[in-house]
Amino acid sequence: MYPLRRNRRLRTNEAIRSLVRETIITPNDFLVPLFIVEGKGIKEEIASMPNYFRYSLDLLKNEVKELWQLGLKSVLLFVKVPDNLKDNKGTEALNPNGLMQRAIKTVKDACPDMLVMTDVALDPYSSYGHDGIVGNGAILNDETVDILAEMSVSHVNAGANFVAPSDMMDGRILAIREALEDEGFIDTGIMSYSAKYASGFYGPFRDALDSAPVDLVDIPKDKKTYQMDYANRFEAIRETEMDIDEGADIVMVKPGISYLDILREIKNEVDIPVAVYQVSGEYAMIKAAAEKGWLNHDHIMMETTTAFKRAGADIIASYFAKDIVKLIHS
Ligand code: PBG
Repeated sequence: MYPLRRNRRLRTNEAIRSLVRETIITPNDFLVPLFIVEGKGIKEEIASMPNYFRYSLDLLKNEVKELWQLGLKSVLLFVKVPDNLKDNKGTEALNPNGLMQRAIKTVKDACPDMLVMTDVALDPYSSYGHDGIVGNGAILNDETVDILAEMSVSHVNAGANFVAPSDMMDGRILAIREALEDEGFIDTGIMSYSAKYASGFYGPFRDALDSAPVDLVDIPKDKKTYQMDYANRFEAIRETEMDIDEGADIVMVKPGISYLDILREIKNEVDIPVAVYQVSGEYAMIKAAAEKGWLNHDHIMMETTTAFKRAGADIIASYFAKDIVKLIHS
């Protein structure tokens, strides 16, 4: 007789498939990245990120209200800093009236219950496009960490609920945690980009913020001295465990699609929430193939997103968040 178990029984139709489905995507899964620019009435499309926009503060208001109505309750803020305000030390990052600080207030005014997370790193503010201070032919770790801690306090002063250091300097989580505690910000969260790889997938993001590393005689035009080597696995676990010991509330794996193995391994290893970031290049790749008619946009969007959650992600930072939620509601 044929084996008693026929696996296809549970795949016969959508009713049974949905009954046994293990991974369900909901609006609660998402963190929505937002790009913010100076000016008024600006909603400009990012060339390498079709249908994704930079907003000026006035239009940011409407956008976050729309997100809230769709059930998207957490945002991750990034600012595009004018060139004349950039320097080696990211001085503008500490301006209490800087674009990030005003953006935080704008989101909180428009939507007081929206969870506001902010990117903490020097690159949008750096004239060299690096996540840390450049000096002596290197990216200076400890000097940078001091500024990241100050920057975090400044964001929380403006109303941020979480800071998200994306710089990969050593020891920054502890420094930020101590700075926040010293200021009495005992309820502020830290989402650490803990396993962040030196990836080719960040290209469109650097277009969005005009933040790519520039040519320097004594420093390579990449971030390989601080972001991780994509060939490595054990290092990701070590980085993540250290960040948890230093006080991170949420850890992250980044990028997403090519790092599902790392995501699952970290999820099995740690007992705090794990986030994944489906980064700009992944978004661009899917958009480009869909535009050419080579892939089905919505199918790939849902398949990759579900794969993150299946692989262990508790939180997904995604440029598709709005599209996905609209699709779910439709
Ligand atoms: C800045 C930062 C980057 C991203 C998030 N924060 C770029 C980088 O490290 O060069 C990438 C996000 C994306 O590609 O979508 N430190």
